[in-house]
Amino acid sequence: MTAPADQAARTALEAARWAPSVHNTQPWSFAVAGEEISVRADPDRKLRLGDPGGREVLISCGAAVFNMTTALRDAGREPIVRILPDPDRPSLLATVRLGPAAEPGEDTRTLAREIERRHTHRAGFADAVVPEQVTAAWERDAMAEGATLMIFRTPEAVRGLAGLTEAAQAVQAQDRPYALEVFRWGRAPGSRRDDGVPAGTYPNEPEGEFAQRDYARGEDWGAEESPFTGSGLVALLTTREDTREAWLAAGQALEHVLLHASANGISAAFHTQALEEPHLRDFLRERVCGGAHPQMLMRLGVAPEEGRRVRRPLTDLLGP
Ligand SMILES: Cc1cc2nc3c(=O)[nH]c(=O)nc-3n(C[C@H](O)[C@H](O)[C@H](O)COP(=O)(O)O)c2cc1C
Repeated sequence: MTAPADQAARTALEAARWAPSVHNTQPWSFAVAGEEISVRADPDRKLRLGDPGGREVLISCGAAVFNMTTALRDAGREPIVRILPDPDRPSLLATVRLGPAAEPGEDTRTLAREIERRHTHRAGFADAVVPEQVTAAWERDAMAEGATLMIFRTPEAVRGLAGLTEAAQAVQAQDRPYALEVFRWGRAPGSRRDDGVPAGTYPNEPEGEFAQRDYARGEDWGAEESPFTGSGLVALLTTREDTREAWLAAGQALEHVLLHASANGISAAFHTQALEEPHLRDFLRERVCGGAHPQMLMRLGVAPEEGRRVRRPLTDLLGP
């Protein structure tokens, strides 16, 4: 059965809220006019030092668009999406029309069920092997949205990516304004704020091969040592171009892969420090990605735990 228009729009907006975003900044706003939802970036939520060009904002907003379209399909509507529809209004990132009635496919239903369940992991993974047919399906997911998922299977390649992450993290941690910008998005225990990275969703002590962001700056906000130590499967999401359109495509591809992985019982950890350093990002593009532009670095694996997630209420997200 098809959901009525206002209910379908609400379902789409509820789904958008649960998208991943850099440091849980939730850098988006929405407006509904008739059967059309417009998606805008919220410039006040951009990382001034970590993301001056807004690349990570647009990846986050692309993920929100993917959640909206998935939820609409699941609600029996075939959405009509226009990305950057008006060159005279660059802040308008996308419009999503509810579209005609259409029966959702099984794949859509599977992805939609994961929207509120998917969560970011920030510690080791169990030593489970992810079958190649599963990773091949994720590669197809990324491609369907206009991006490429590169998977790194050799210890040397993984070490190289971990080393670059470590270097970027070490330099950023010593850059006081930069480190404070990250810390500003760390959410203290018991805080009532509805954004930022919650205490307890990262380990207290550095763990594993890939350096973590420091959301606590010496405060005892992390979790006890995790029982798992594996790095999981290391992957880079890349795009051919490095335009705003490509960043939005990367975000849609990211969420497509993450929801599918979540349906496979697999969660992801992100390590995007090196991608915030233009020289390191260029180095990765030229030496590792065959000229494609790296957009997200992640580890994927099995970690049986509940996610702890906070989001702003819908009323805060609706702009004029
Ligand atoms: C563009 C982008 C970059 C991110 N970079 C990191 C990162 O470097 N380290 C990290 O722990 N999480 C990173 N994340 C994950 C976010 O912190 C996470 O999505 C957010 O806190 C919301 O939590 P949830 O994914 O559990 O819903 C990133 C997410 C996005 C979309």
